[in-house]
Parts: sequence; C-alpha cells; structure tokens
Amino acid sequence: MTKIRAAITGINAWVPDYILTNQELETMVDTSDEWIITRTGIKERHILKGEGKGTSDLGAEAVKGLLKKTNTDPLDVDLVILATVTPDMLFPASANIISDKVGMKNAWSYDLNAACSGFIFALDTAARFVETGKYKKVVVVGADKMSSIVDYTDRTTCIIFGDAGGAVLLEPDTTGYGMIDSKFYTDGSGLIYLHQKAGGSLKPPSHDTIDAREHFVFQEGQSVFKFAVKGMADVSVEMMKRNNLESEDVAYFVPHQANLRIIDATARRMKLDNDKVMINIQRYGNTTNGTIPLCLDEWENKLKKGDNIILAAFGGGFTWGAIYLKWAYDPEN
Ligand code: UT7
Repeated sequence: MTKIRAAITGINAWVPDYILTNQELETMVDTSDEWIITRTGIKERHILKGEGKGTSDLGAEAVKGLLKKTNTDPLDVDLVILATVTPDMLFPASANIISDKVGMKNAWSYDLNAACSGFIFALDTAARFVETGKYKKVVVVGADKMSSIVDYTDRTTCIIFGDAGGAVLLEPDTTGYGMIDSKFYTDGSGLIYLHQKAGGSLKPPSHDTIDAREHFVFQEGQSVFKFAVKGMADVSVEMMKRNNLESEDVAYFVPHQANLRIIDATARRMKLDNDKVMINIQRYGNTTNGTIPLCLDEWENKLKKGDNIILAAFGGGFTWGAIYLKWAYDPEN
C-alpha cells in the first residue's frame, strides 16, 4: 500500500498593525534598544490592541487568508488544531471559536498546549490524522496574544514577546513529499523556570493573585536559555543524523524565534550557513506559537518542491522537538 504522508499545501500568517518598538519600551521600563538587540536580536513586535480581541482573532485572520490563498472551501475542512498558551477563555477551546468565525462548520476542533513548541506538536499530531487516510484537509493554527499575559512593568520579559497567528493546510500526499520524521521531548521539572503562577486550578484568580501580579509570564531567563540552547540544538542534530542529512542536504532550518543567540547556537551545531536559517525575530519578537508559521509564510516564495526542511522549537514545560519534512509545492511565480 502507498504510504500516505501529511504535506503542507498552504501557509498564511497574520500580525496586528500596532508596532511596539524598543524605543517605546525604553519609555515604559528601564531598558535600552542596545541591550534588547544585543541580548535577544529583537527590534520590534506587533501587539493586538483594542477591547474584545483575543487569540481567536489572530488565528481567524490567519486561517481566512490561508483558505483564500489555497482556494479551500471552509466547509471542506475536516479538523482544526490550535496551538496556543493564550486561549480566549479557559474553555471552550479557541479552535472552536476560530472555526465558527471562519465558517469551518464541518470541522471538529481542539486546542493543544505545549508552550513555544505547540505549533510543531500540533503539526505532528495533525499529521497522524492525515496519515490514516480519513482526513483530507486539516488546518493547524499557531496563535498567541502574548501581550495578554505579559507584565509591561517587568523588563526581563516584556521586551521579548509579541502577538501573531499563523496557519497551515495539511493534505495527504502519496508521492514522497510531506512530513517524514519527528521527535519530541517533555520534561515537567522545567516548570519552575517558566510558567504563569495563577489563573489555573492550582491557584484560581483572586484579589491576592492579581495584587501579586501572578497572571503574567514568569521566567528565569538564564536557566531557560541554557536548556533551550541544548534542547533545540541536540534535537535538530538528532533529526539530521537519523535521516542521514548533511548540512548541504538541508534547504532551510525553521527555528522557534525565542532569542537570536539560541538560533545562532543551534545553526552552528547543525553546521548551517546563515542563508539557510529563517530568522525574523527582529520584527516580531517571540510570538510563542506564531513563530514557525510566521517564518514559513515569509519564506514561502523561496521554498521549492522537494526542499528538505527542519523545524525545531523549545519552550515552557519544558517541551522541545523537531520535524523533518519535504516541502510539497513550488512558488506560484
Ligand atoms: O520561548 C520559550 C523559551 N524562552 C526562551 O528561550 C528565553 C531564554 N532566555 C533568554 O532569551 C534570555 O535569558 C533573556 C533575553 C530573557 C535575558 O538575557 P540574558 O542575557 O540571559 O540576561 P540576564 O537575565 O542574565 O540579565 C543580565 C543583566 C542583569 O543585570 P545584572 O544582574 O547583570 O546587573 C539583568 O537585570 O541584564 C539585566 N536586564 C536588563 N537590562 C536592560 C534584564 N532585562 C533587561 C532589560 N534591559 N530588558
């Protein structure tokens, strides 16, 4: 029987208009453009402003564009998986809200949380559905309104994050393209270094949790940095080795955009030239589940059918992993 693989057949990303620059952050906390660029590589990030707007709006915009670009009828989508750490509400799933906003009325949908690794966890989960042959069109969304959980009085975290949404269409392929291999890890003991203290069942919201500013991202940056460099580099190199890929065989590396120094260290371990590494952290910051689709969308016109691509991420949890895929289509022009 011919093996069915899940192939990405379309990509689209969306960011809100408002740009929060390093210069504006200098007026909000004790920081400098120079410190932020040197330590993270970030110059600006996009922020979703306005009442009544949540992560589902970022995701819905990305999906609307995706369906238009790929000439896909919303009613033909079978399944929607949203990777996010900032759902509109604790329940229902924001994937359902996106499906409703976009008119994907025949799809079932759910959210998946693997922090910054969520998009690749969701992509791999979705691939299993496609590989069964039962699912013909699956939409995977990565979206986060990080500005909703960032403390803009904490200079160690507020300079890092931005808001964005991205989405891919997955369809079956029997000609050798699509997702070939994946490897993922989690280590729950990493919780202490990166988490949101309150708002869940362990510590429900109260006046005290609000006064203690516990509804925001807490991160011990240096510790996370060390784990991230090792985790992302190890798994990316492992992915190359187990698929007998040398650096010249890899067309592009798509890393989660958390810190330019983490990306550079990983690329060096993979022995990749800079022009093979997708980097746009300078314009968007760390958009958590948005980073990888934002890169793929920006590079879409350079990607050619058959390109070997490695995606990798590291995030809270800890969670980390990598996917190896063969790109399934040529640019339009
Ligand atoms: O995406 C999910 C996973 N997350 C990550 O991968 C993030 C990993 N961590 C990082 O990217 C980095 O650790 C940060 C960007 C968060 C911080 O960079 P760092 O080089 O690790 O800085 P640091 O925390 O060691 O701080 C160095 C100094 C400290 O001052 P002292 O103690 O040396 O006097 C900080 O107080 O820089 C100070 N500092 C700042 N200074 C100006 C911290 N934040 C700022 C700031 N502006 N925004």
